[in-house]
Amino acid sequence: MWGTATAAYQVEGAVAEDGRGPSIWDTFTHEPGRVIDGTTGDVACDHYHRYADDVALMAELGLTSYRFSIAWPRVVPAGSGAVNHAGLDFYSRLVDALLDRDIEPLATLYHWDLPQPLQDAGGWTNRETALRFAEYAEVVGRALGDRVPTITTFNEPWCSAFLGYSSGVHAPGVTDNASSLAAVHHLNLAHGLGARALRASMPASGRVSITLNLAVVRGVSEGDADAVRHVDGLANRIFTEPVLRGHYPQDLLADLRHITDWSFIHDGDAATCNAPIDVLGVNYYSPTLVAAATPEIRAQADGRWVNDPMSADGPTPFPGTDLAYSMPQAGPYTAMGWRIEPGSLTELLLRVHADYPDVPLMITENGAAFADEPGADGVVHDADRIDYLRGHLSAVHDAIAKGVDVRGYYCWSLMDNFEWAWGFSKRFGIVHVDYADGTRTLKHSARWYRDVIAANGLD
Ligand code: FCB
Repeated sequence: MWGTATAAYQVEGAVAEDGRGPSIWDTFTHEPGRVIDGTTGDVACDHYHRYADDVALMAELGLTSYRFSIAWPRVVPAGSGAVNHAGLDFYSRLVDALLDRDIEPLATLYHWDLPQPLQDAGGWTNRETALRFAEYAEVVGRALGDRVPTITTFNEPWCSAFLGYSSGVHAPGVTDNASSLAAVHHLNLAHGLGARALRASMPASGRVSITLNLAVVRGVSEGDADAVRHVDGLANRIFTEPVLRGHYPQDLLADLRHITDWSFIHDGDAATCNAPIDVLGVNYYSPTLVAAATPEIRAQADGRWVNDPMSADGPTPFPGTDLAYSMPQAGPYTAMGWRIEPGSLTELLLRVHADYPDVPLMITENGAAFADEPGADGVVHDADRIDYLRGHLSAVHDAIAKGVDVRGYYCWSLMDNFEWAWGFSKRFGIVHVDYADGTRTLKHSARWYRDVIAANGLD
C-alpha cells in the first residue's frame, strides 16, 4: 500500500456542524497559551467540506490507500448514548469517494479527540471510558466495516497518555505521572475491548489493527543502560507486551511503584488487552536519546517542559517517569527539532520483527516538517522533505530485504494541517495549504511521491 495519512481534528474543521459534539481538543485549543500560535482546529483545512476535492487530489497522486481518523464526537457526540447519523454519513461519503477512485480506506477510531463529556468524568483515567470506546467501535464497525477493510483502534496511545496526562502539552493538559499510567492501562484495555467489538461487527474478512509510535531508545553513555531499559519499557513495551502478549513488563511495574500501585490493572485485564490483531501500525519520525535522572541532568532541565519532548532544546523529563530524561541530539534536524536518521527506522523494524515475528507491520506515519515557502512559481521546492522521505523509504526497503513483513507506507501528511500544540506553525504536508483561502498546491515532494508510487519503489 502506498498512502498518506491525516487525522480528523487536524484537517476537518466544521467542529460544530451536523451534530458534532465537543472534544478535549476543542476545549484545549480554546484555552489561552496551549497552542504556540494561538490557533485552533475550528476550520483547519476545511476537509469536512472539501473532502471530494481532496480525494480527487489523492487520485491524482496515484495513492492506493488513505489513512484518516474518525472523530468520536461526530459519531457519538456525548461519548455515550445516542449515535449521530449525520456524523457517520460524512465518513460513509468519504469512504465511497475513496472506493470510487480505487483508494483503499484505512480508518482509525481514535486519533486523540475524546468527547469532552467523557473527559469531564475523568477521561482515560476512568476505566468506564474503555467501555464507552468499545460501544463506539461497534457502531463504526457496523456502519463502515462492509467498505473499510482495515480499522485501527488507536493512534499513538503513548501520546494520549503521556502528553495528555503527564507533560500536559496535549489535551486534556493534565500534569500527573500517576494519571498517565492509569491512562495507559485504560487505553490498552479499550484497544482490547474495541478490537473484539470490531471483530463482532465487521465482516469476517475485516482486519483490525492498532498504531503505536514505537521508539528507538539510546543512552548518552554506557552508564545510561538502565535508563534505556526503563524508557524502552515506558515508550514501547508498556503497549506492545499487553497488546501482543497479554502481560505487562514486570521490570517497568517495579520501576514505577513509587508513582502508582497499579491497582487499576484488574485480574484478567492484561489478557483482555491481548485481542488478536491482523497488522501493527508503526509511526516513526526520529530516534530517542535518554539519560538517567542524575542531579546534574535534573539541574540542567530545571523542571521545565519544552513543547515537545523530542525537541533539540535541552533535557526534559521523559513523560511518565522521574527516572530518566529525554536528551537533545545532534542534527540534522527537521523543523520540529527532530534528528533525521533514516537508518534508525530499519533498526526499529528489525527489532519489532525479532520480538513479535508473527505480526505483519505497516508504516502508518512517517514524514517531516520543514519551513516551506512557495518559490516564485508558487510551488514549494521541498528538496529537504524529498531527502527525508527517500531516506526513510529506503530504510523500510532494507528492513523488507532482511525479512520484515511490511505491508504499506503512509506518508504524514497528505497536506499541511493543524499540528496540535504547534498550531499551523509546522508544515508536514506533501501538499501545501494556504490557510487564508484553503487552496491546495502540490509541493515538489508530492510530484516525487507520485513517481515513486507509479514505479512501485525508488529508482
Ligand atoms: C504524530 C501524530 C500526527 C502528527 C505527527 C507529526 O505523533 O500521530 O497526528 O502530529 O506526529
